[in-house]
Amino acid sequence: MHFNLRTLAALAIAAASLTQSRREFHASGKTSRRWLPGSDKIRGVNLASQFIIEPWMAGDEWNSMGCGDSRDEWSCVQRLGQEDADAVFQRHWQTWITPDDLREIQSYGLNTVRIPVGFWINEDLVNAGEYYPRGGLKYLDYIVGNCTELGLYVIMDLHGGPGSQFPGQQYTGHVVDSPGFYTEENYERANKFLEWMTERVHTDPAYFNVGMLQVVNEPVHAGDYPSEAADMISSYYPSAWTRIRDREAQLGVADGDKLHIQYMAEAWGSGNPSQDLPGTTFASYDDHRYYKWDSSVPATRDGYISAACSDNRGGTDVIIGEWSISVADDAQYNAEFDIRDTDANNDWYKQFFAAQVKAFERSGGWVFWSWKCNWIAGFNEWRWCYKSAVDAGVIPKDAAAAVGNSPC
Ligand SMILES: *[C@@H]1O[C@H](CO)[C@@H](O)[C@H](O)[C@H]1NC(C)=O
Repeated sequence: MHFNLRTLAALAIAAASLTQSRREFHASGKTSRRWLPGSDKIRGVNLASQFIIEPWMAGDEWNSMGCGDSRDEWSCVQRLGQEDADAVFQRHWQTWITPDDLREIQSYGLNTVRIPVGFWINEDLVNAGEYYPRGGLKYLDYIVGNCTELGLYVIMDLHGGPGSQFPGQQYTGHVVDSPGFYTEENYERANKFLEWMTERVHTDPAYFNVGMLQVVNEPVHAGDYPSEAADMISSYYPSAWTRIRDREAQLGVADGDKLHIQYMAEAWGSGNPSQDLPGTTFASYDDHRYYKWDSSVPATRDGYISAACSDNRGGTDVIIGEWSISVADDAQYNAEFDIRDTDANNDWYKQFFAAQVKAFERSGGWVFWSWKCNWIAGFNEWRWCYKSAVDAGVIPKDAAAAVGNSPC
C-alpha cells in the first residue's frame, strides 16, 4: 500500500473512532493517535510464534523447518547453520501470520495485536557467538504495515531480551539455566532496542498504529531471583523510560503522540514496576492471568468460573496481555474438561472465556494467548488458539459480544 497524507488522515480518523482519547487530550482539544480504550476496551490476540517460535505450540511447523527436537530458536539455528536457518525462518515468517490472518482478526471484532519480538530482530545488537535467525525485520514491517492499514492497534513487546530474562523458557529464544539479562551490558542492548524501535514507530508510516512498547516480557520473579528483580526495577525500568522519552523529545514528538510504555504489572511478581519510574503519564501495566497455573484456584468447573467472576486485575492502565482458556495440566483431560473427540464441554469453555472477558474488561482489556497454534500434544488444542476456538464455536465471532455470554 502506498502511504500518503490522505491515508494517514483516514487512519487517524479510523483509529479515533475506535476509541476515546485520554480525557486530558479531549480537554485540551487535541486528539491523540496513541489511543487507549475508554468505552472500547483492548480486545486482542498475541501473534505468538511468529518472531519467537515456541515449539510446544507450533509442533508441525517446527518439524517442517527441520528443527527436530531443538528446544528453542537458538539451538535450531545452531543445528541448521546460520544460512540454512535464515532460509527456513524466512519461509516461516512469510506463512505463519499472513495478511489474511490479520483481516480475520479484524473481522472477529478484535482491535489489537500484541507482537512478541526478540531483540535480535535488530541484528546490530547481536553479539558474536549468539545464534538467532536473521532477516525477520522485513516481515515485522509487513505485519505492522498491514495492521496500520486495517486499523489494528499494535503492542510491540520485547519478548526475548538479550541474555534471556527467565530461565528454562522457549519464549526467550534461548533456553538458559541462569538468566543473563540482568547486567549493565544487556540492559544497554535492550535500551538500544527500545530507542531504535521508538524511532521506527515515529518515523516509519507503516508503524503508525504502534501505540505501546513493552520494555521486557516476563522477567524473573523476586521470590526466585531477588537481587536481579530488584536491580531491574531500580535500574533497567527507569532507564528504559528515559531512553524512550529522550528519543521522542529529540524527534519532536507531541505529548499526545508519545508511546505508552508498558511494564509487567506488580501481580507478575518482580516488584512494583513504577517504584523508580521518572514519570507515569502513558505508563501501562501488563498482567498475565493464567488460572491454569494458579494453584489457589480449584481445578473444577465452578472453581474456574467463580475465580474469574470475582477477579479484579486493576484499573484501565492494566491490560491482561496473556491468558487462555486452558485448565490445569492434571485436570485438562478429565471428563468435564476434555476437548478431544468431544464437544460436550464446549458450552462450559464458552462460559469460561466469557467470564474472563468480563473480568478483564473491568481493567483496560485483554490480549489472548494466542491467535494461532498447531498440534499441541498431537491434537487441535483450541484452549490456546483463538482462531480454532472460534471455529469450534467456543469464542464468538464478535469479540465484543463475549461479555454477554458470561455466567457471572
Ligand atoms: C502487507 O503484507 C504483505 C506481505 O505479506 C506486504 O507485501 C505488504 O506490503 C504489506 N502491506 C503493508 C501496508 O505493509
